[in-house]
Amino acid sequence: MADRRPRVWVAQPLFDDTVAQLAAYCDVVATPVVSAHDSAALAAHLAGVDGALVTLNERIGADEIAGARSLKVVANVGVGYNNLDIPALSAAGIIATNTPDVLTETTADLGFALLMAAARRIVESDRWLREGHWGQWSFTTMLGADLHGSTLGILGMGRIGQAIARRGHHGFGMRVLYHNRSRLPAEVEQAVGARYAGFDELLGSVDHLLLALPYTAQNHHVIDAVALAKMKPGATLVNIARGGLVDELALADALAQGRLAAAALDVYENEPQVRPELRALRNIVLTPHIGSASLATRRAMVQLAVDNLLAGLGIGPDAGRPAN
Ligand code: DGY
Repeated sequence: MADRRPRVWVAQPLFDDTVAQLAAYCDVVATPVVSAHDSAALAAHLAGVDGALVTLNERIGADEIAGARSLKVVANVGVGYNNLDIPALSAAGIIATNTPDVLTETTADLGFALLMAAARRIVESDRWLREGHWGQWSFTTMLGADLHGSTLGILGMGRIGQAIARRGHHGFGMRVLYHNRSRLPAEVEQAVGARYAGFDELLGSVDHLLLALPYTAQNHHVIDAVALAKMKPGATLVNIARGGLVDELALADALAQGRLAAAALDVYENEPQVRPELRALRNIVLTPHIGSASLATRRAMVQLAVDNLLAGLGIGPDAGRPAN
């Protein structure tokens, strides 16, 4: 480290007390939020700093770091890091860190909230009532699908997938199937109450399918028209992972046709754009990527990212600790 105070760029407004921790060790450069698509602005901010605290909004690859000669650490405030080109950062000797664990339960909570909202048509009911459609009580108004006693499918069985499985199995008495790159040890399967299934078996046998897997080039549109056609008629789909996992036009079509009863999305392929084909549907719940957005969890994520950034720069209270 040079004999000057390191400079760090904080890409998003965070909590003042966490930024103050950084300011004890570094010169902090905070800026208005940069557009997710403004590569030149990102590159300009990264040039001349030693570290950056970024979020999924900042997409950083070879072009953005080309002029960032002093950059040593990019600390992502988030568990998913598909906004970072890891091979490009590694090739440049830049450490990348993320914030696993601290957001697992909060994100699983949102997954369940969305599942319930979609399956029991809560948002649709709210809108319908406010629009003045409720003439009189009727036996058949807003009939939805049960969670209890149904089969829940989870695609991606990392920390968040397992937290969802526990909620489904232990909390709602659901039968839980999962598909994952690798099968979990038998004792973990037993603890979370989930059974491994092949991809097609999962699609064809679950009443509700929840996506909780990291996005990679290999699983782009893993839920496409073909996969949607294999799902049980009347099933529910929930995506709390990344938008690129789902072919949104194929999903809109399956919902419009009534092949799927309902869906809920917290993530989109081209955030913050949400396709008009999705917005037009009544049987879909749309939230603006708020999986980890509880106050306590967002604070914990920022704290972990600050710790990671300082550790990566070799300064701060835990100097010498390997970055997360
Ligand atoms: C994550 O951590 O990856 C979330 O999507 C951002 O809150």
